[in-house]
Amino acid sequence: MFGVAYYPEHWPRRRWKSDALLMKRAGFKVVRLAEFAWEKIEPDDGVFDFSWLDDVVELLGAEGIDVVLGTPTAAPPAWLVEKHPNILPVRRDGTRMSFGGRHHNCHSNDIFRESVEIIVRSMAVHYRDNPHVKGWQVDNELGNSHEELCYCDSCRYHFHAWLQRKYGTIDALNAAWGTVFWSQTYTHFTQIPMPLATPNSHNPALLLDWHRFTSDLIVDFQRIQVAIIRDECREHFVTHNFMGFAGKVDYHLLCGDLDFVSHDQYPLGFEGESGAVRPAAESAMPLDFIRGLKSTRFWIMEQQSGAAGWETIGPTPRPGQIRLWTAQSIAHGADAVLFFRWRTSPSGTEQYWHGILPHSGDPGARYEEVAKTVRELDPVLESLKGGDIRKSRVAILFSYDQLWAFDIQPHHPDLRYLDHIGRYYSEFHRRNIAVDFVGLSDELAAYDLVFAPMVFLVNDELVAKLRAYVENGGVLLATMRSGVKDWNNGVLSEMLPGPFGRVFGIQIPDYDCLRGVTQGVRYEGIEETVSLWADIIETAGAAPVAVYAKDYYADRPAITEHAWEAGTAYYVGTELGDAVRRRLVARVLESAGIENGYDTPDGVEAVVRSSDRGEVLFLLNHTDQAQIVPFPDAWRPALLPDDAAPGESEEDLVLPAFEIALFTRGG
Ligand code: GAL
Repeated sequence: MFGVAYYPEHWPRRRWKSDALLMKRAGFKVVRLAEFAWEKIEPDDGVFDFSWLDDVVELLGAEGIDVVLGTPTAAPPAWLVEKHPNILPVRRDGTRMSFGGRHHNCHSNDIFRESVEIIVRSMAVHYRDNPHVKGWQVDNELGNSHEELCYCDSCRYHFHAWLQRKYGTIDALNAAWGTVFWSQTYTHFTQIPMPLATPNSHNPALLLDWHRFTSDLIVDFQRIQVAIIRDECREHFVTHNFMGFAGKVDYHLLCGDLDFVSHDQYPLGFEGESGAVRPAAESAMPLDFIRGLKSTRFWIMEQQSGAAGWETIGPTPRPGQIRLWTAQSIAHGADAVLFFRWRTSPSGTEQYWHGILPHSGDPGARYEEVAKTVRELDPVLESLKGGDIRKSRVAILFSYDQLWAFDIQPHHPDLRYLDHIGRYYSEFHRRNIAVDFVGLSDELAAYDLVFAPMVFLVNDELVAKLRAYVENGGVLLATMRSGVKDWNNGVLSEMLPGPFGRVFGIQIPDYDCLRGVTQGVRYEGIEETVSLWADIIETAGAAPVAVYAKDYYADRPAITEHAWEAGTAYYVGTELGDAVRRRLVARVLESAGIENGYDTPDGVEAVVRSSDRGEVLFLLNHTDQAQIVPFPDAWRPALLPDDAAPGESEEDLVLPAFEIALFTRGG
């Protein structure tokens, strides 16, 4: 299905009919409405007006367009804040934020929660029998806008209750957090601070639990809304629009209460100077992550459909890019794509966040591109209906606990968990090898290769899982700073890499943070610079694969390989450069018996999406130049570029800039 986010309340009623007709002409079947319209629906405490929304739903329904309603709880109205100023969030420095923007709310505040329950239940009751309303999006991008989260008294109270539930006794907390350091031992839970400004930094154990607590609070906040909708609207689905790798909420937990996950995909943002042509892997990685959350198909609730902008504006998508990104979303598992947004807003913070229609409302080139996209890709989606998405052979283990632990202590100021993962992901992506992201509770056995990046925090379950994976024949690739800490963020009193020593057949008696220190590795006859970190490894059963190039640990292993039981475990002690990473990944893939995917030039992505009905091969040219791709012989062409110039030979397919080609097989 295709559709769009629509804000009819931003334009006069007389425009609505022509909007609906234009949407119909574009082939849209679904529209998301009302997710910021709290004040329009409840203009005053307990006073409701659904008439305008009823009319819009009816008008769209008459054109065969279904509706997803957003609960408008991301935009608490002025009357509510005026009456209950305590619902406003408090910053880390103790100042209370003001009304304005959106998400100006604390998630734990009881009065806010009650007000949320009232608006959500009223909407649910009002729309439960409306034939055009099919489902709900709870709030909007939970965790977004909450840069500092909230440090109010209510949050403090809930933090203490959360800690008490987790640890039972204050002695257990003291032991787990190692509060003996700097005399921070507590005698009551109520003494425990929120991580407010202090002269130095807080205990890393406290900080990690604060991340977990605030994440749980948001999961709980969503759960209240989901429960109401499920209670009132038994036939409707419930989803939420996630934001790729945004790190405020543990999406592995947030997705649990939903029927399916939705995601907002903006390949070109509005910050930075990165230009209009972005590496395909950058937009592919969040899509694979989102598919992995429930191991299945998902929706794109917002697909970029124009230049992004608030105070500053990003580049305008080049002709063809909106269609290209839409195809990419589908290739990676989207079953529905809703564009953001219908028409560019005349007012407010997002005046420059461009929709399909410009400010004038006249359909132009973007509208035509979207309509063409829908026309061409609708049959493709149809052919992928039903059946499950086949699993990849490579998994990347992703954990919010590790992400947060590295946010708290990055070691090297430039070390980022996500960037590290991205470097390896790009290498698989470049080879057109499909990757699944898995979480800590997912099964690994079905994968031939598991990349477990920086497994910094460990617990018995995780150690047992990775060990069993290798013992049973899996190929495991792990990287620096693994096996360092327990799950409470305390350092293990063991030789590194802690409980992983036997699996990897190594010991790490020392390490070097590469700050202003240069280092390199020698691997298969090449020498290349490495960065950020160096685990100085001693083998204890493993074979060295690469060694450091200089300084007092020259010739000591930097990468090792260990045949362990039926499998193989690789350990990489540093942040490799591109050339060595490339060779190492080739070696690891070979040992897992995985071949490269379809052969394409750089910047052309080849993705196979499979279902029970057959397979579709997507060839996507993310570059602004024509690219020559070998014609995929074993496949039937389903969509070829209109202006595909003939290649040098008949076996070539020429994909113009930002073009796509689709092929099918089986079914
Ligand atoms: C998304 C958000 C939308 C809109 C858009 C443009 O992240 O869900 O409501 O704000 O960005 O900024």
